[in-house]
Amino acid sequence: MGQLHARVVTESPLAQLAAIVDVDRDAADRVASHFGVPHFPSVDSICEDRHVDAAIVAVPDTAHEEPASRLLRAGKAVLLEKPMAHTLGAARRIAEVAQSSPSRLMVGHILRFDSRYAGAAERVAQGVIGVPLHVTASRFTFRQVGSRMAGKSSPCFYLGIHDIDAMQWVSGKRITRVFARAVRSAAPDSSLPPTDDAIFATCELEDGMAGNLQFGWTLPDHAPSGISARLEVVGTVGFVDVDTHDHGLRVLGVTGLTLPDGLHWPETNQRIVGDLADEVNHFLRTIRDDKDFLVPIADAVRNVAVNDAIIRSIQSNAPEVVDPPAF
Ligand SMILES: NC(=O)c1ccc[n+]([C@@H]2O[C@H](COP(=O)([O-])OP(=O)(O)OC[C@H]3O[C@@H](n4cnc5c(N)ncnc54)[C@H](O)[C@@H]3O)[C@@H](O)[C@H]2O)c1
Repeated sequence: MGQLHARVVTESPLAQLAAIVDVDRDAADRVASHFGVPHFPSVDSICEDRHVDAAIVAVPDTAHEEPASRLLRAGKAVLLEKPMAHTLGAARRIAEVAQSSPSRLMVGHILRFDSRYAGAAERVAQGVIGVPLHVTASRFTFRQVGSRMAGKSSPCFYLGIHDIDAMQWVSGKRITRVFARAVRSAAPDSSLPPTDDAIFATCELEDGMAGNLQFGWTLPDHAPSGISARLEVVGTVGFVDVDTHDHGLRVLGVTGLTLPDGLHWPETNQRIVGDLADEVNHFLRTIRDDKDFLVPIADAVRNVAVNDAIIRSIQSNAPEVVDPPAF
């Protein structure tokens, strides 16, 4: 993701790429050489460089807090990849740092920049479907993602946080209680630490709405699409239904059928276009113009609070209340 972000910045008229930071020096060197910028093993040099206005943090979920907090304290605007953090405590601490510093923070909930999800949210807010009654959201990707993420993340943080954000933002109602179950051991490699591979959660939302979340890295690696996601909100007079399995381009080659990404970060005419580019350019434009971000910090914390309840529910085998927002 960091490489994609770096490329989007180089292709944006709104910013200049200043440097790459990565604890893995080889990775940093490779990416920095590609873009012709210096590289550093930590954010220290960036924090001290008064020519740097902003940073994009795309390190693993478990490592978000330290670089994000240090950059914010140093006065840099931060675009922090989703999830805001891997625990509710860390998300709240990052939010506190953002609130107590003059710096700006946006969490990269990319679906806010997706025309299909944004279109659904707009229709629900306009009352096109009447009063929302129930909502389902799902996201499934390849098993190889689970093998790569084993021990580093969970399907509810790496994948499901997108759908938790979409469920609450599109329906306009917050999730208040969840009952979650997990499926384990779909990954064939038994040398990997045990990890949840798919999670299903029944949700209670405000005003009597009910919902269902489903996400996982359980699709065979030869499945045609690695972004198999849906969202449906049914209301008293209509519904909105987003289906991202097929983006309109189907390719059949010798290895089978593929449905390439046409929306999140496709390369078109040698440029990264779509949701990620819109997200980064919104971040850059908003800090330049000192306007409000499309993703409020409180929503990002709330999303992590839902994940916190999901994990508690899997462990307790009982419904768990989502911690009320502290912001
Ligand atoms: N928006 C999306 O759709 C989307 C998709 C995939 C991943 N992500 C998010 O992007 C982030 C990165 O995911 P990824 O799949 O690219 O991870 P990755 O493991 O492939 O890459 C992370 C990089 O960060 C480096 N790193 C680790 N700790 C560091 C630290 N403290 N300081 C500096 N560098 C550090 C690693 O060496 C590695 O090069 C995660 O938060 C993930 O959830 C978002």
